[in-house]
Amino acid sequence: MYKIPANTLFLGKQLVFVPECHSTNTLALQLSQNTSTLEGAVIITNNQTAGRGQRGNSWEAAPGMNLTFSVVLRPGFLAPKDQFYLNIITSLAVRDYLIGKTNEPVVIKWPNDILVQKKKICGILIENQIQGSSLVSAVVGIGLNVNQTNFQKDTATSLKLVTNTEASLESALHELLHFLETRYLQLRQQNTSALREEYLSNLYCRNEQHEFSSGDTTFMGTIQGIDETGRLVVDTVQGLKYFGIKEIIFVR
Ligand code: BTN
Repeated sequence: MYKIPANTLFLGKQLVFVPECHSTNTLALQLSQNTSTLEGAVIITNNQTAGRGQRGNSWEAAPGMNLTFSVVLRPGFLAPKDQFYLNIITSLAVRDYLIGKTNEPVVIKWPNDILVQKKKICGILIENQIQGSSLVSAVVGIGLNVNQTNFQKDTATSLKLVTNTEASLESALHELLHFLETRYLQLRQQNTSALREEYLSNLYCRNEQHEFSSGDTTFMGTIQGIDETGRLVVDTVQGLKYFGIKEIIFVR
């Protein structure tokens, strides 16, 4: 069970806790179709049995040790072409939360993985519903590794591994929601260039040369930033290339 947060204006005021579910994003997508589901509704579980990640991947989290939740937003003020700003504000909000917990650098791996000590501590899956020229609702799914210390992949980490301290899941949820709401309000005030700059200045591997793969080819390139729709801009020997979320993989 989770209490309704006292430190937010509207995020989490409707809070649906289910002990177990397949995916909070799937549940939130269903609930978001209902007009009685208000902006800011949070769906949270202790045990996600079929958690979904980006690019059709799964998201694994040990039951009861981590945060797995989804937030319903109704960002009607945002044009569909600007939907990447939801990735930007969510990444920055998670980063805001984490920089208060550790002195280690917290970076954003495009499009929205959060890394500490080069390991993934948080994954974000945002699913938007567009009708005509309007972004009618968005489900922001967040998987934050909090108290889990054993992972199948050695590329994963948690707050406990980074800080050596166990954290209360409820406090972590409330703090995260506060930061997400603050960033969302910043976006609603059209503060987009500041948000974009902050996202870029915390982008993993920016201005460094790395190996990437796209389709059947691997190539060296340097991340320059993102374009106005959130595509990754990589400088290669063939000039600037632009990649959507499913179109490029970091090799090393
Ligand atoms: C990724 O890194 O690929 C994104 C992972 C997103 C996981 C979260 S956990 C809560 C929400 N429900 C899901 O099924 N996925 C997201």
